[in-house]
Amino acid sequence: MNKNNIILIGFMGVGKSAISRRLKKLTDMKEVDTDAMIVERENMSISDIFVQKGEEAFRTMETDLLRELKHEKNLIISCGGGMALRDENAAIMKEAGTVVWLKARPETILKRVKHDDKRPLLRGNKNVEFIGDLLNQRSPKYEAASHFYVNTDNRSIQSISEEILKRVGRTLNKA
Ligand code: S3P
Repeated sequence: MNKNNIILIGFMGVGKSAISRRLKKLTDMKEVDTDAMIVERENMSISDIFVQKGEEAFRTMETDLLRELKHEKNLIISCGGGMALRDENAAIMKEAGTVVWLKARPETILKRVKHDDKRPLLRGNKNVEFIGDLLNQRSPKYEAASHFYVNTDNRSIQSISEEILKRVGRTLNKA
């Protein structure tokens, strides 16, 4: 791996977007969000893409986007929560940079997604049991796709971001 990108993966609501924004502030890196890029390109919300084109089509959009992004450098890439599910994506991400798995307990995730309606997979499923089951199913994929994990429960965005930068060997260039 010769790229210096930082790639954030993990379940919905673990804080990928907030941490990505903070990492951008703390470094000279650029930031991209795969969900936001897909929404912009398709000119459709994630929910509409799921309904009108289907989840598989969305997953293929994610893979196509990753293939493009892997040629970039100095990027923080905040991935949709399902990005690690395809083994192909996991391989591309590992080639593209350091992959960080952000972990949180189902209770923490529920608190963070409770008032949000943009995630089709959680519609009608906002409870600890559903989130815990899906998290258990997905965890081996997140683990296999990542270089290391960081726990986010009961921690500030700043402290999580500083830990990531330390572990990837980057120094902070802004206060
Ligand atoms: C998904 C997570 C979402 C978004 C889509 C599917 C998933 O991204 O890509 O709703 O399968 O976990 P966030 O993790 O940013 O919510």
